Amino acid sequence: MSPFTCPLCQTPFKQTNNTQICANNHHFDIAKEGYLNLLPVNAKNSKNPGDNKEMMQARRAFLNSGGYLLLAEKLSDLLKVLLADKEQAHLLDLGCGEGYYTAHLAGTLPERFSFSALDISKVAIRYAAKRYNNINFCVASAYDVPLADKSIDLLLRIYAPSLDSELQRLIKSQGYLVTVTPAPRHLYQLREKIYEQVNQHPEENQAPPGFTKVEQLNLHYPLFIDNPQVVKDLINMTPFAWKFNQQKMQELLAEKSWKIECDFNIEVYRKD
Ligand SMILES: C[S@@+](CC[C@H](N)C(=O)[O-])C[C@H]1O[C@@H](n2cnc3c(N)ncnc32)[C@H](O)[C@@H]1O
Ligand SMILES: [Zn+2]
Repeated sequence: MSPFTCPLCQTPFKQTNNTQICANNHHFDIAKEGYLNLLPVNAKNSKNPGDNKEMMQARRAFLNSGGYLLLAEKLSDLLKVLLADKEQAHLLDLGCGEGYYTAHLAGTLPERFSFSALDISKVAIRYAAKRYNNINFCVASAYDVPLADKSIDLLLRIYAPSLDSELQRLIKSQGYLVTVTPAPRHLYQLREKIYEQVNQHPEENQAPPGFTKVEQLNLHYPLFIDNPQVVKDLINMTPFAWKFNQQKMQELLAEKSWKIECDFNIEVYRKD
């Protein structure tokens, strides 16, 4: 059964052949890759909202190189502890991109847990669903999530936007919100090439209303890269890619090897 609800009337779905149909007879076809597109056309600010194909492919290539594997492993260890006493748990990866972390978690946490993931970028969800088949993927906005109230035991948000009221609505009482955001030294060696004065990312973030912070973790490590394509992929998946003009890119790529700091804030909040 689909965990998702109708984006037009919020009732549950029943599946008939390759279509999900809600109580009010709204139809949504399941794409051949297995995902649902639940983003109403009038909710789009542009024709193709979210990360475009180039950013998504750069992110997939970089993540495949293993550059952020330590983060995936740290999250897996953390979630195992948070959910240790749960018989069942429904996890949601909000703004999941091409599904790298969702898939790592689905592969390392107990099989009895269920995983849903959404992103506003259709191309990202198409790639995600094509590659990983034990996760419920849908195209939807984090600002209007097609899931029932209090249906989530743990919501993960890695470098993605969200709305406080949706976090409050979706997560069960005593459930968890886990966020990953850039910490002060994140990608410092790239940012110092662009900015005269590099702004520090915050050392920590505040709990959203209705939540209490229960853990504040930091993951800081140097990434050693010797393949220029990996540096290009890392740049092209970041929001500051467009600030690298030809000259800056050439200067950076003239180096033979690179040491780039990765620095993440990982915060755990419990729903009051
Ligand atoms: C920096 S990427 C992070 C992707 C993934 N969490 C990861 O770390 O690999 C941010 C993602 O948020 C998505 N996004 C942006 N606005 C969104 C929204 N309103 N609702 C859902 N996803 C959104 C983008 O399409 C993109 O995939
Ligand atoms: Zn409906």
